[in-house]
Amino acid sequence: MKEIQMCFCVTFLFAFGIVYELSQEPDCFFFCNPISKHFLRPKDVMSQGRSIIFLETTDHLQPSPLVLCSVESAARVYPDRPIVFFLKGLVNNTFPDIKSSYPSLFFLSTMKNVFLFPLQEDILFQDTPLLSWYLQVNTTKEKYWPYIISDAIRLAVVWKYGGIYMDTDVISIKPIPVANFLAAQSSQFSSNGVFGFQHRHWFIWDCMNDFVHNYNGDIWGNQGPYLFTRILKKQCNLTNFQNVEDHVCYNISFLHPQRFYPIPYETWAKYYEVWITKPEFNHSYAVHLWNFMNQREKKNMTIGSNTLMENLVRTHCPSTYRFELHKTQLPQNKTS
Ligand SMILES: *[C@@H]1O[C@H](CO)[C@@H](O)[C@H](O)[C@H]1NC(C)=O
Ligand SMILES: *[C@@H]1O[C@H](CO)[C@@H](O)[C@H](O)[C@H]1NC(C)=O
Ligand SMILES: *[C@@H]1O[C@H](CO)[C@@H](O)[C@H](O)[C@H]1NC(C)=O
Ligand SMILES: *[C@@H]1O[C@H](CO)[C@@H](O)[C@H](O)[C@H]1NC(C)=O
Ligand SMILES: *[C@@H]1O[C@H](CO)[C@@H](O)[C@H](O)[C@H]1NC(C)=O
Ligand SMILES: *[C@@H]1O[C@H](CO)[C@@H](O)[C@H](O)[C@H]1NC(C)=O
Repeated sequence: MKEIQMCFCVTFLFAFGIVYELSQEPDCFFFCNPISKHFLRPKDVMSQGRSIIFLETTDHLQPSPLVLCSVESAARVYPDRPIVFFLKGLVNNTFPDIKSSYPSLFFLSTMKNVFLFPLQEDILFQDTPLLSWYLQVNTTKEKYWPYIISDAIRLAVVWKYGGIYMDTDVISIKPIPVANFLAAQSSQFSSNGVFGFQHRHWFIWDCMNDFVHNYNGDIWGNQGPYLFTRILKKQCNLTNFQNVEDHVCYNISFLHPQRFYPIPYETWAKYYEVWITKPEFNHSYAVHLWNFMNQREKKNMTIGSNTLMENLVRTHCPSTYRFELHKTQLPQNKTS
């Protein structure tokens, strides 16, 4: 009898979780509690092909303020779409672990349309050209392994589920109006830090095949931005951008560099400077903060610094801002 009750209860929770997910109510009525989400699997959440996808390919489970802001800003800009964050470190952690040990992850999990899932490459690569490569690559020999595996996973996830992939240093500002797109870093160069495709799109399939056939782990980005650029150039004549108009080729939009890279990588440090007049980023759907360039200096969002970075977080990620502010105030509270 107890088992039947238990079973009913689980079924009810599961069904309710789906109803809850599908409902587009701005407020949560019964469950603001993320436990209901815990019964969902990626395919339950992502089957409509409209997800915004983030990855953490290391075991790290304590996202920086910038990562929190990437996810929160996406959750705000796309309130009726699931925001899915795959983390490798969740493979061996249960929900109670997260609640007790990883407050910033728990903070993310309380957002209505944010879903955290364990990242399992071997499962994601199944039925793609990447699986055979993955099973034979010797990771200890690969000097760019963290980049390569991340490049591979984002292709497989977008192929399988469809949606928009974003790096965790991208702050969303307004919705991207097209489904199939690549982000230009210049007229002749595509990034792979943000891109979107419907599920099972031929472009991503071509990319996965090229990934395996022209694999060269010694060249940084050969499976990443250079791969996208290569495949795009095979199909399309890339002419120079005029003004801020996007290009379209075979229904794939090649979005102007202003859409995501209003500050080019050479001047990445400007995000950590104080600006006299605040930039509007009117032509941008999101801004990419070049965390990659920032690796040596490890600049963070500093509360009270009045840098562009702080202002972006305060404007587009008010919850993250409050969360960080609260952390800085904790020690003072303790001493007083
Ligand atoms: C999870 O645990 C298994 C078994 O202890 C271990 O082999 C694996 O490396 C762990 N994975 C992660 C991502 O921590
Ligand atoms: C991977 O490469 C390392 C370093 O060259 C080598 O020691 C190791 O035996 C290789 N592993 C496999 C499974 O080939
Ligand atoms: C690209 O340019 C070549 C030569 O000008 C032309 O033959 C081809 O049709 C063009 N391809 C596309 C997709 O516009
Ligand atoms: C582009 O999209 C339109 C409408 O969705 C479709 O009719 C057309 O066949 C597509 N063209 C290509 C080249 O995929
Ligand atoms: C940017 O957009 C804001 C609000 O829509 C507008 O007030 C401002 O003039 C625009 N700036 C530029 C440079 O177009
Ligand atoms: C930024 O934060 C990381 C960890 O969150 C810390 O290790 C690093 O020292 C911080 N850097 C600065 C410049 O405060």
